[in-house]
Amino acid sequence: MSLVVDNIGELVTNVAGSGEGGPLGIRRRVAVLVEEGEVAWIGPAADAPAADRRIDAAGAAVLPGFVDSHAHLVFAGDRAAEFAARMAGEPYTGGGIRTTVGATRAASDGELRATVRRLHAEALRQGTTTIEIKSGYGLTVTDEARSLRIAAEVSAETTFLGAHVVPAEYAARPDDYVSLVCGPMLAAAAPHARWIDVFCERGAFDADHARAILACGQALGLGVRVHANQLGPGPGVRLGVELGAASVDHCTHLTDADVDALASTRFDCMCADGGHTSTVATLLPGAEFSTRSPYPDARRLLDARVTVALATDCNPGSSYTSSMPFCIALAVREMGMTPAEAVWAATAGGARALRRDDIGVLRPGARADLIILDAPSHLHLAYRPGVPLVRQVLHNGVPR
Ligand code: NIG
Ligand code: FE
Repeated sequence: MSLVVDNIGELVTNVAGSGEGGPLGIRRRVAVLVEEGEVAWIGPAADAPAADRRIDAAGAAVLPGFVDSHAHLVFAGDRAAEFAARMAGEPYTGGGIRTTVGATRAASDGELRATVRRLHAEALRQGTTTIEIKSGYGLTVTDEARSLRIAAEVSAETTFLGAHVVPAEYAARPDDYVSLVCGPMLAAAAPHARWIDVFCERGAFDADHARAILACGQALGLGVRVHANQLGPGPGVRLGVELGAASVDHCTHLTDADVDALASTRFDCMCADGGHTSTVATLLPGAEFSTRSPYPDARRLLDARVTVALATDCNPGSSYTSSMPFCIALAVREMGMTPAEAVWAATAGGARALRRDDIGVLRPGARADLIILDAPSHLHLAYRPGVPLVRQVLHNGVPR
């Protein structure tokens, strides 16, 4: 089946140099032909080829689907009361993770599957066409493996986060828990996971434990990502760089040495976009919003030419949003990003954080994941916060 999206007012391609707007590669008055789930052709609307189906964008903006490269969707229950207490002045410490672990262990496969599917559908309606999903609320061999099995039913981007926190039953012997994670838990999880992640933070895992766990995952072929520098300064970002992580996530409390370490992973090239850092800094402003914490300083990273991604961190504790447009609006209003930088970070940036070149971009051969806005320009995503601006989503070329 072929399909043409016609009468596009503004097409964000993320192919640098292919149009206006620098990295966004904006083209105007164009059409996109989709065949077999891929972009087959982009050209002037006047030359649009015939296709089995036509969608009239009516002059609206069309963008690559959002790439949410950090989410925790496999859990049971919620923590609305914890959120209310925070809004009344309680700090966020991550201590509530164990509450969700208890609820998740008690849930049936069917209950977990229903939550994952509900949140996955909710994200898709808001324009997210790729979403990374972490385990991390099971923390037993069986519960981590089933979390990833269920996540893999809806996404290829699955991440083993057995090292989220040390569960209560191992509180007195964290070394034993690290051995469990590196041994039987990883063995059971790895067949269902593409990535491994560790929450490297005071109160969770220190640098030595995190390094040991991530190295075990790498030895089994998993790519590395790290929850780093969320609640305070720490070794997470530099550890991620040391291990060649695809992404270090949160980056709320950075020293100059952290920023320098990220910048040192930069590879400059003769390509139109000039190059990127191989370790991406993924910023999660939904977490700062929902924990009343200071936002990360995106401007500082961008000025150091570090590649930045935006993601939701969707989870029941620190950031219960699945909305990438909300994260874009926060990044622009609170983190010093321009609307163009935020839109790039939520699409191409997320793709880089997942080391993917087939998504987050619209060019022939890319996956036909695209969104049609109820707006004439990508600027409206930040300009009209809280408004459902995603009119139509195409995922793998299929209208949803
Ligand atoms: O990325 N910081 C660690 N993990 C999650 C929060 C988990 C929770 O509070 O349930 C995060 O923010
Ligand atoms: Fe997270």
